[in-house]
Amino acid sequence: MPHRKELLMGLLIQNGTVVTADKTFAADVLVEGEVIKEVRAGISSNGHTVVDAAGMLVLPGGIDAHTHLDMPFGGTMSSDDFETGTRAAAIGGTTTIVDFAIQAKGTKMRDALDLWWKKAEGKACIDYGLHMIVTDLGSDAGKAGLDDMDDLVREGVASFKLFMAYPNVLMADDATIFKALRQTAKNGALVCMHAENGSVIDVLVQQALAEGKTAPIYHALTRPTLAEAEAVQRAIAMAEIAGAPVYIVHLSSEDALNQVREARDRGVPAFAETCPQYLLLSIEDNMNTGSFEDAKYVFTPPLREKKNQARLWDGLKHDHLQVVSTDHCPFCFADQKVLGIDDFTKIPNGGPGIENRMQLIHHHGVNSGRLSLNRFVEITATAPARIFGMYPKKGTIAPGSDADIVIWDPESEHTISAATHNMRCDYSMFEGYQVRGNARQVYSAGELIVEHGRFLGKPGRGRYLKREPRGGAWR
Ligand code: URP
Ligand code: ZN
Ligand code: ZN
Ligand code: ZN
Repeated sequence: MPHRKELLMGLLIQNGTVVTADKTFAADVLVEGEVIKEVRAGISSNGHTVVDAAGMLVLPGGIDAHTHLDMPFGGTMSSDDFETGTRAAAIGGTTTIVDFAIQAKGTKMRDALDLWWKKAEGKACIDYGLHMIVTDLGSDAGKAGLDDMDDLVREGVASFKLFMAYPNVLMADDATIFKALRQTAKNGALVCMHAENGSVIDVLVQQALAEGKTAPIYHALTRPTLAEAEAVQRAIAMAEIAGAPVYIVHLSSEDALNQVREARDRGVPAFAETCPQYLLLSIEDNMNTGSFEDAKYVFTPPLREKKNQARLWDGLKHDHLQVVSTDHCPFCFADQKVLGIDDFTKIPNGGPGIENRMQLIHHHGVNSGRLSLNRFVEITATAPARIFGMYPKKGTIAPGSDADIVIWDPESEHTISAATHNMRCDYSMFEGYQVRGNARQVYSAGELIVEHGRFLGKPGRGRYLKREPRGGAWR
């Protein structure tokens, strides 16, 4: 565990406007050591280190609940590791991530947890939690695997991801998914679902290849929105039968969103996230080159038709969607995406995004009038903290919470580009996007780790977060 020097004096952030999920108010924030001590107007500067935040917003550090650092996929590894990825996250105003450990088939989940701890050791620049990707519950009717899940919950792994897609690689059958859901109904953890009908998609993919359709666009065209909606509906039905909540990851389409909304309207504890790429990019705008450049936008679920974007923004506004995460899973174009130059199924799936989430959602959500500032804070920090068992330690500005604080300059202009970004990836999905609003200073556990886009912390300072299972208190 990294040690930190206790601050002798407090840190006083003065004159800023504090924004939480439910309030916007003028207040000073006093930090002592690693936690927030006081939040109120007029705290005396007596003996404290004072930071003037006049004209600034004081936000809880962002939480990105869906990242893939140093992850094996399609014969290669995602290009950011825990050092480069968490540093880029911090620079963009994210102070916590939840990444995914992957159970290799035929092995114990505990082995994967150990492996991912090693990947993060000495590297993580911000605090991190881990979800566990379940691929195999074992041959004894799942008993060993289910006990393994309980063991992981005790280690702070309060959520498990299962895949309804990627047959023969990560896909779990419905029996496995249902057993895992039933176990979480008992142990209080949360199942996160990659919801796409992998078997149907596989038939469409094989047909496309047989017809000689090998270009990147066929990745998108073989994954219809109804294959997503069907899997979302099935996931929610299985969760209802099991008496468990369920969280749909990287939801990308109106068809899928309708399933979540319908379930929530009936009072079912179904939750979902979307990602900036589905809110801002589309087949029409980004997969139109007719060249292999389109591979930069090959991720799963794929980009959708533009008409879906407004539905997703509306879903965020009205709480049909609860979270914006990135699904950050970068692969360099020149030496990784190119693996699929002759066959779209060999393009490693994923894109870079961890650095730009806060900027993009602030600009295209708040500045454009689609979201209030409070809703921006809620979907980027507070809701992921609550849903994934980190609240109120993370996700808010309040006495007793970790001093993970972003001093956000709402007027600062920034142009996103691979030439200047900090992610280890040779392209940006948002190249040339101009945003207004950026992190000026970022504090993690009371330590100033970013100032004006420069990372000041030490790799390895980030701590593993033991998360609490929610135990059924879902509404
Ligand atoms: O294309 C993606 N999303 N790659 C990461 C793996 C996943 O399904 O989340
Ligand atoms: Zn996924
Ligand atoms: Zn993912
Ligand atoms: Zn590379």
